[in-house]
Amino acid sequence: MIFPLDKFKTLETPFYYYDLNVLKNTLEEIKSNVSGVPFKVHYAIKANANDRILSIIRESGLGVDCVSGGELNAAIKAGFDGSKIAFAGVGKTDKEISAGIDNDIFCFNVESLPEMQVINEIASNKGKTANVAIRINPNIDAHTHKYITTGLNENKFGINLPQLDDIVKATLAMPNVKLCGFHFHIGSQILEKEPFIMLCEKINELQDKYEKQGIEIKIINVGGGLGIDYNNPDSALIPDFKGYFDIFKQNLKLRHGQELHFELGRSVVAQCGSLITRVTYVKSGTAKKFIIVDAGMSDLIRPALYQAHHKIENITSAATDVDVYDVVGPICESSDCFGTDETLALTKRGDMIALRSAGAYGEIMASHYNCREFPQSVYSD
Ligand code: LLP
Repeated sequence: MIFPLDKFKTLETPFYYYDLNVLKNTLEEIKSNVSGVPFKVHYAIKANANDRILSIIRESGLGVDCVSGGELNAAIKAGFDGSKIAFAGVGKTDKEISAGIDNDIFCFNVESLPEMQVINEIASNKGKTANVAIRINPNIDAHTHKYITTGLNENKFGINLPQLDDIVKATLAMPNVKLCGFHFHIGSQILEKEPFIMLCEKINELQDKYEKQGIEIKIINVGGGLGIDYNNPDSALIPDFKGYFDIFKQNLKLRHGQELHFELGRSVVAQCGSLITRVTYVKSGTAKKFIIVDAGMSDLIRPALYQAHHKIENITSAATDVDVYDVVGPICESSDCFGTDETLALTKRGDMIALRSAGAYGEIMASHYNCREFPQSVYSD
């Protein structure tokens, strides 16, 4: 990725830099892979709810997947139509459910029987019928970090398979909810095909079973989870959407008139964003050399929280020599570390560093910890 260094030099750091062409090309690639098939993509707004990003995604025609009233508001404010909004989450409050119904959203992804009952009751009070999908926990291991694994019986998400019959029956008997779909989401940053193939097989089994009972399911929603290449962002700026969508084209037996929905977050926005930070000091310890930058875990928490690694580049050093550094932030926690034993161009105070692939779950997860300000956003245009 080429960074506009002249422009950067005048800016206060840290800031998130978004290459909007990368975003637009990513969206084009998604669109081209779902044209001609009944696939609909909702952008998982939790990955990044930045205004500019949202407006480009809306213009591309994607829908949205929300998990809170705040996300619902952000989507409506960004101009997304209620009919394209899916609303997931294990703990939707009455207020959030009410807002979803008021906005005539596409569908609630419902995660428990008590939630279904509350949706039915609130819809009834409003004289409406809410579209619902049951979120099913298929007990499939996504082989990803345990904090972003969601499809195992031990996880809090969805309905476990042995309880599915009961909730299907109960839902069909409720007058103010309409059972439209089955929803799944097995985890995030999934790099193997196998878990998605297993998901397709599980869905095929369930479809056969409920079809025999005469229960018609209009929508299958397989959630998100497609991983990205954090180590080589430049050679994988656009994730392998063809490979991903082909898995579903080849393995999932959609019925006539059925739609397959996706909720992609990370794969849509991760590679277009970088966190740009300046080197405040280079400090030599006895065992280590530290590059201390002005961004910290309050700006990008993924390394501290999930032991994630974002590629680190010195984007201003002209040095051809390299050295080995730990790259750390200014926050008073040892977990405030972006990389250990990183081989980087010789680095000095004032150099600018890019933490790559930070467009997803970066800016949106920023905090005021240590009373720090939120990072700014800067766009390629
Ligand atoms: N649908 C549901 C129901 C989800 O819970 C999620 C993500 C998505 C879709 C989007 O998944 P994606 O396509 O982005 O993998 N903060 C973590 C990631 C948390 C993901 C939570 N759920 C991180 O920085 O890695």
